[in-house]
Amino acid sequence: MKNIIKYLPFVFMIALNVFAEGSGYRMRNVQPFVLIITGLLLVNFIIAYFLKVKNHFLYGLTGIAIIGALMVFFSPRLGQLYIENIIATMYLGLLLVTIIPPIFKLRLFTYDFSEKNYTESITKGERFYQINLILNFVWSVLFLSAIVLTIIRYNTDNAINTIIATLLPITLLLIVGIPLTKYLPGFLMQKLGGEQIKFATIKDLFASMPLGLNKKKSKGVNTVVQFFLTGEEPTTGHLIISEQQCTYNEGEHPNPKTIIRCDSQLWLDISNNDVSGDKAFINNEYEIEGDATIMLQFVEMFAPPKKEKKRKKVKPLTYDYKQIESKKIKNIVVFDGGYRSNKNSKTTFMVNHFINGAKEVGANVEYFKLKDYNIKECTGCYSCWTKSPGECIFDDKKVADDMFMLRKKYREADLVVFASPLYIFNVSGILKTFMDRLLPVLQPYMLLNDRGNIMHPDRFPEKGEQGFVVFSASGFPDVAHNFDGLTGMFRAWDSHNENSHLMGEFYMPAAEMIVQPVYQARKELIKELCIKAGKQIVTEGLIEKEIMHTIQDPLVSKETFQKQADAFWESLDGKKSYLANVPKIN
Ligand SMILES: Cc1cc2nc3c(=O)[nH]c(=O)nc-3n(C[C@H](O)[C@H](O)[C@H](O)COP(=O)(O)O)c2cc1C
Repeated sequence: MKNIIKYLPFVFMIALNVFAEGSGYRMRNVQPFVLIITGLLLVNFIIAYFLKVKNHFLYGLTGIAIIGALMVFFSPRLGQLYIENIIATMYLGLLLVTIIPPIFKLRLFTYDFSEKNYTESITKGERFYQINLILNFVWSVLFLSAIVLTIIRYNTDNAINTIIATLLPITLLLIVGIPLTKYLPGFLMQKLGGEQIKFATIKDLFASMPLGLNKKKSKGVNTVVQFFLTGEEPTTGHLIISEQQCTYNEGEHPNPKTIIRCDSQLWLDISNNDVSGDKAFINNEYEIEGDATIMLQFVEMFAPPKKEKKRKKVKPLTYDYKQIESKKIKNIVVFDGGYRSNKNSKTTFMVNHFINGAKEVGANVEYFKLKDYNIKECTGCYSCWTKSPGECIFDDKKVADDMFMLRKKYREADLVVFASPLYIFNVSGILKTFMDRLLPVLQPYMLLNDRGNIMHPDRFPEKGEQGFVVFSASGFPDVAHNFDGLTGMFRAWDSHNENSHLMGEFYMPAAEMIVQPVYQARKELIKELCIKAGKQIVTEGLIEKEIMHTIQDPLVSKETFQKQADAFWESLDGKKSYLANVPKIN
């Protein structure tokens, strides 16, 4: 019944047009029809009012018909225009339906169609209004085109002309309008990105999630996330994300990839962005079992993609790293200037996997944690260059420290690994002290090579060329302007040394994050790459730049990093010791 009331005005207008045409558009003959049909339209409108039928077309067409009728009876010239163009006037009524509501910020007619496919949380949002505004504009253009197509004269034969003038606009509306109304909102939701939607209930949240999936970001994702929510709105259900589609089902999935156990109110607050999910997770307010990396993807797949600034790409490595003959590296020595143990050092994590790779293909590796050795600071006396060439004053038996032994290890290696956490944009103090104390291996004289590099000659050249690689982990998420000092130092070591050549740099920014379950995938990737590099340098005498480049990518935007790092530090604020409370690296 309600639908009949809504669409009856169309029938009345078309009927009036038939009568008008049948009467040869003679005003006197058409007037009674105008009176009857406008009367019927009014009756229909009153019935609609009492039945609370609200419909834009009903208002638009009844309104325009009344104006038309007034013209017929009070302004014959305009009235004549009306009866000769009833269908065009009908489209004018529809055009007004698209023009008036946005001016007065009234509900747009497009909502009647577009909101059917979305939950209330989405349809009441500003973004959905904007999408409807675009849709509404499209319809304005369509109705305007329909008016033009209706009044164009196609044929001298009246009957043929009427057929064309009637069919063309209808075809346009059907072919263009209907599919656009169906698909444009979904397309625009993806293109424009969502806004922060506030969900009233968990039910509403899960009903909305399939609609809010960002197809681009979910490419290649194939997962099942099982929720066990307790508290106010206990819910057991799972989301399946596969082939760029998301579906929600109640109950348990037999084989979920991730299980989330949380209080329902907390999960709602996290989803509504009223509570930081990172903070809640770090504070163990909810539990994740299985693949936690999905949590990062969740933010990307369901949150507004526009808000997040694009992550800057890590610059490609252009340095001319030394390559040597394959299988020439047999003995590797590691000097680790870090203070943390294997369980906590992110630098040592990389080094360990690198040497495991090298060992796997036959290299001998010796590892020295410099903090465990007695290494005095260089006094700058130059005795090692003058009084006792090649010997340090601290090699003297009475004051001997461990540098004599360590220097020997350095000299004998085919490949030296310098490892250090990034401390104030450079190596740790102890690694720097160690490197200062390597001065006796050089001669004071100057060599100038054909590339214009000036350097000290090697004091023990019989050993031949030696390679070195550098490993360092940092807290900040950037490599540029963070590792510059450290990089500069090692590259200068490369260019100012006769026989010691830089073969690779492994810099891991945002390193503290990789112990968090959400960054598990990055940690595994770095591990694999370090193993690969260790094998490669031994078997091929080089390291692919792509390996080093990938390790340098923090895989997180600075904005997200800032949020997570802050939540993390806040969780430890004043209460706990750092190393005792962070997840271990293995
Ligand atoms: C004294 C000190 C200085 C630091 N300076 C920097 C720095 O300049 N840039 C940076 O990104 N991180 C800096 N950090 C953070 C460390 O590089 C980060 O914690 C890294 O993971 C340590 O490596 P490790 O786990 O191998 O010890 C500093 C940390 C400390 C304790």
